[in-house]
Amino acid sequence: MAPTVERKNINLAPLKAANVPIFFIVGGPGSGKGTQCDKIVAKYGLTHLSSGDLLRDEVKSGSPRGAQLTAIMESGALVPLEVVLDLVKEAMLKAIEKGSKGFLIDGYPREVAQGQQFESEIQEAKLVLFFDVAEETLVKRLLHRAQTSGRADDNIDTIKKRLHTFVTSTAPVVDYYDSKGKLVRINAEGSVDDIFAVVVANLDKVTSKI
Ligand code: AP5
Repeated sequence: MAPTVERKNINLAPLKAANVPIFFIVGGPGSGKGTQCDKIVAKYGLTHLSSGDLLRDEVKSGSPRGAQLTAIMESGALVPLEVVLDLVKEAMLKAIEKGSKGFLIDGYPREVAQGQQFESEIQEAKLVLFFDVAEETLVKRLLHRAQTSGRADDNIDTIKKRLHTFVTSTAPVVDYYDSKGKLVRINAEGSVDDIFAVVVANLDKVTSKI
């Protein structure tokens, strides 16, 4: 039986009251989500929250919640929905306290249920940016990054499992938001700057009021 995950009571009132725009950033492992988010932050000043970074920070903190996550992440599977959502909520609240004017939630949602739960508990995403990259390119990028990243999941066996999880669980997220008219599909095979130009063209249409 899966272990019971520790949950917290989180007061979302300040986050809801702020009602700032939220963008989901979706794509396979190594599709360039983090790379593009860094550039988006520099241009638009939004708050970047990577679900993977939040989970890795939780593991590093040595908390009981973190201890349950290591094995899941090293297997390339998804951690339970509630754990990720709680970490994202906590990070959003901290950022709102500091005056955040909007969020890039990177690596989230990774399954349709995550998106539905987030939107029912917090608020709807304005857009979902999907970085579309062929599996062969993803593997090449991640193996290259593995030479220096020190990430426990940047090895060929775990990369294959992460790709499998992406195809089975996250690809339906893309179809789901496409059917809601919120998906921006971006071919992310080109150079970082060429991809960013497409990102900017799409964000400029909706961020004029930020
Ligand atoms: P996470 O940390 O989110 O990893 P990921 O999705 O596998 O993505 P990466 O961070 O590896 O890549 P990226 O798309 O950000 O690409 P990057 O910009 O770094 O998740 C890790 C694990 O945590 C998951 O497997 C899961 O277990 C768990 N998890 C996370 N979120 C979860 C959730 N919501 N629910 C449940 N579990 C969750 O680029 C990669 C490399 O390519 C870099 O070296 C970069 O320099 C290079 N690069 C980037 N763009 C280009 C380009 N255009 N051309 C050439 N190289 C490029």
